[in-house]
Amino acid sequence: MSKSARAAIVLAAGKGTRMKSGLAKVLHEANGKPLAWYPIRRALALRCDPVVVVVGHQGDEVRARLEALFPGAPLVFAVQREQKGTGHAVLAARRALAGHDGRVLILYGDVPLLTDETLRTLTRAGRGNPVAFLSMRPADPTGYGRVVRDARGRVEAIVEHKDASAAVRAIDECNAGLYDCDAAFLWKALRKVGASNAQGEYYLTDLIAAAHAAGRPAVAVEAPVEEVSGVNDRVELAAAARVLRRRIAERWMRAGVTLIDPDSTFLDEEVELGADVLVEPHVRIGGATRIGAGTRIGFGSVIVDSTVGARVTVKPYSVFEEARVGDRAQVGPFARLRPGTVLAEDVHIGNFVETKKATLGRGSKANHLAYLGDATIGSGCNVGAGTITCNYDGVNKLPTVLGDGVFIGSDTQLVAPVTVGDGAYVGAGSTIVRDVPAGALALSRSEQVIKEGWATRRRAGAAAKGRKTAAPRKAASRRTRRR
Ligand code: UD1
Ligand code: CA
Repeated sequence: MSKSARAAIVLAAGKGTRMKSGLAKVLHEANGKPLAWYPIRRALALRCDPVVVVVGHQGDEVRARLEALFPGAPLVFAVQREQKGTGHAVLAARRALAGHDGRVLILYGDVPLLTDETLRTLTRAGRGNPVAFLSMRPADPTGYGRVVRDARGRVEAIVEHKDASAAVRAIDECNAGLYDCDAAFLWKALRKVGASNAQGEYYLTDLIAAAHAAGRPAVAVEAPVEEVSGVNDRVELAAAARVLRRRIAERWMRAGVTLIDPDSTFLDEEVELGADVLVEPHVRIGGATRIGAGTRIGFGSVIVDSTVGARVTVKPYSVFEEARVGDRAQVGPFARLRPGTVLAEDVHIGNFVETKKATLGRGSKANHLAYLGDATIGSGCNVGAGTITCNYDGVNKLPTVLGDGVFIGSDTQLVAPVTVGDGAYVGAGSTIVRDVPAGALALSRSEQVIKEGWATRRRAGAAAKGRKTAAPRKAASRRTRRR
């Protein structure tokens, strides 16, 4: 099996009753990622292989979601059908770890704020010891397991709040619930764990007393309470998300990015921003987005899974999804770049322009009210206001191709499949159903008709009719006023 020195178990079987939700707790999102994403990501960063996720409540959904988020990662799922305690949950992972004889890191799926740094301190403390764990000193220790020490100050046991005497409850050192242990020790000790306690559960914490009994006491590493606090309800979920956002925002500001209002800026963990990027308030940049140096992202924009070049100007309220935008392009306000959009350098996309699977060559412009779908547009083109690629015939999506230097007059429909050659002109208001050769002019609108004096006569007629009906209308409005 795995030749890695360290495997991980992430406990994620609990229901999360206090979320009051139809969705499993670990699938609730904090800053764009489900809660369980965070400990798994930390375990993978420590090169744990495999990472066994113990699922129970909504196990299939949890598994599907996490597998999709970590393609190719050494994730394994183990099912704990009934939730009979943390010791029972870890045992559910045993089969998946058969043959692994190194270290085992045990994390909770609902503890998203743990840092790599704290985890490294934990694994360092574990070296040469059967078990190390994270402890904490919360303002109110009610409900947590207490760290009981022997006369020599060594960790003797963890006693759960419900099993604790008044004297033990007075201890403020608590168990955070995250461990680094030796695999052989873990399985041997768990075999002896019973459920004769106040909750009738199999306690993973009994491991600690076993280590002391074996003369190899566990090592406690105190962690900041903020990092090891679990999320139990939606108030704590929002608070955790806020901390996650703040950390990412500070990292980028220190790296040379201006965030006008970090509190209203939503940056996913994997986003990459160049030097002197400027992000206006109320912006979300998510997924695998990369933004080049000196680019400005306007107020209210949402950019997901996109690559944006250097010195690009994104004006307010623009939305990008799986788009690529070249250097110095100008996009928005109110532009929508959908998947498969590729804009070369110096392209201008203006307000209320939607693009999908559309390539625009260097310096091309579509500045107002257009839909460009399944389109390949050359360089130096001008696409007039209101231009639509009719790319869908009710069954198939069909391509539109414009050469270089093409001029498309306003309010044109390009009925795909259709090609307009280099340098061609299409007159405003045209419906183009056949290919236009390079250098040609295409026009397809009906002849204009002029009827001299028609409007004047019509208005005169209407005014005469209005005089006849004016009296009753006046009476009605007077009645309204009196009320
Ligand atoms: C546990 C510790 C306690 C510690 C506290 C810190 C034990 C016996 N107690 O408390 O010392 O102070 O964590 O938060 O370990 N889970 C499962 N299957 C189960 C039970 C739990 O997957 O059968 C998961 C939960 O989804 C959760 C985690 O394990 O992510 C912890 O469970 P929880 O019930 O919150 O912890 P306690 O047992 O109360
Ligand atoms: Ca509990």
